[in-house]
Amino acid sequence: MQRIGILTGGGDCPGLNAVIRAAARTLIRDYDIDVVGIQLGFEGLLTKSCVALTLESIRGILPKGGTLLRTTNRGNPFEFPVGDGRCEDRSSTLIDNIHELGIDGVIAIGGDGTLKIAQRLCDMGIPMVAVPKTIDNDLAATDYTFGFHTAVAVATEAVDRLHTTAASHDRVMILEVMGRNAGWIALYAGIAGGADIILIPEIPYQPENIVKMVQGREREGANFDIIVVAEGAKRVGGQEAYLDKATRRLGGIAYQVAADIAEQIDLEIRVTVLGHVQRGGSPIAFDRILASRFGKAAADLVAQKKFGEMVAVRGDDIVSVPIRDAVSRPKYVDPDGNLVATARSLGISFGDGR
Ligand code: F6P
Repeated sequence: MQRIGILTGGGDCPGLNAVIRAAARTLIRDYDIDVVGIQLGFEGLLTKSCVALTLESIRGILPKGGTLLRTTNRGNPFEFPVGDGRCEDRSSTLIDNIHELGIDGVIAIGGDGTLKIAQRLCDMGIPMVAVPKTIDNDLAATDYTFGFHTAVAVATEAVDRLHTTAASHDRVMILEVMGRNAGWIALYAGIAGGADIILIPEIPYQPENIVKMVQGREREGANFDIIVVAEGAKRVGGQEAYLDKATRRLGGIAYQVAADIAEQIDLEIRVTVLGHVQRGGSPIAFDRILASRFGKAAADLVAQKKFGEMVAVRGDDIVSVPIRDAVSRPKYVDPDGNLVATARSLGISFGDGR
């Protein structure tokens, strides 16, 4: 191995730069391997947009949010958009370019889509190692993905801030957080922030149970309520709320919840949709450390020629698992698990009447 490429694909996530830095440092310092950064995910391999990553060029990136290599969720080389809604398979051009650029292997840092592309390229003979990334924490192969705890910290701070304004105005505050079809961010931030009601995709809600909870708290003298709702939550027998149905972009369920309960409660309701602030900005220390461990482990896998593998954390150990297994197993909140049970014991309602 002489030269390794690193790319980031899919949505960004706090900690990407920490992975790039750790992987590049380990490759350069421990294995004397040259490193190039590929711009804009796999697209950079089609346009041959690469930059040398040296110890100097990666200096200072550890605490920075985003990704210095930029990213996209539209650069799938197997279905590359060529205009008018048409797509082309450009994978053979990509493979030719990898050889022309003298790249002997690629570390792909990304979510589900990126991992699937990495697996297909690996099957076509390109040496690939993967690092999982998502604030949603919805991959079963790893206990945590980096970025998740930063997103939870941002969402928890939002819950704290909503508490004081809710109590001052006697209001019901509904906070919508990200997470796609997994309720991890809502559940963690809801427990950490002391929410009264948490609504997650894994436990469909009934509006009457939210109303009961609000009225019950009112009888006990509580003049406000905090509801944290995951963007993928839905009513019993209902549908997810989409900002854009065609691309399945989730969003807007908080307004649905507000409409569901407005008639039956006396308090005013206000909605906050937290959005991409959960993904931006500096990673917290936990994510910087996890990202650094993942980056180092990915470099070690390259040096050991263990391709087709993805790094993961299990307990306190960094391990590797076949990319193929990782992409096929999502991880959702267990409605009967300890976290949900803890929340229920704390008096938090999931809108399911239990
Ligand atoms: O997967 C990460 C995530 O932030 C989800 O929580 C959210 O649904 C989605 O990406 C938003 O995607 P985009 O950045 O394309 O709007």
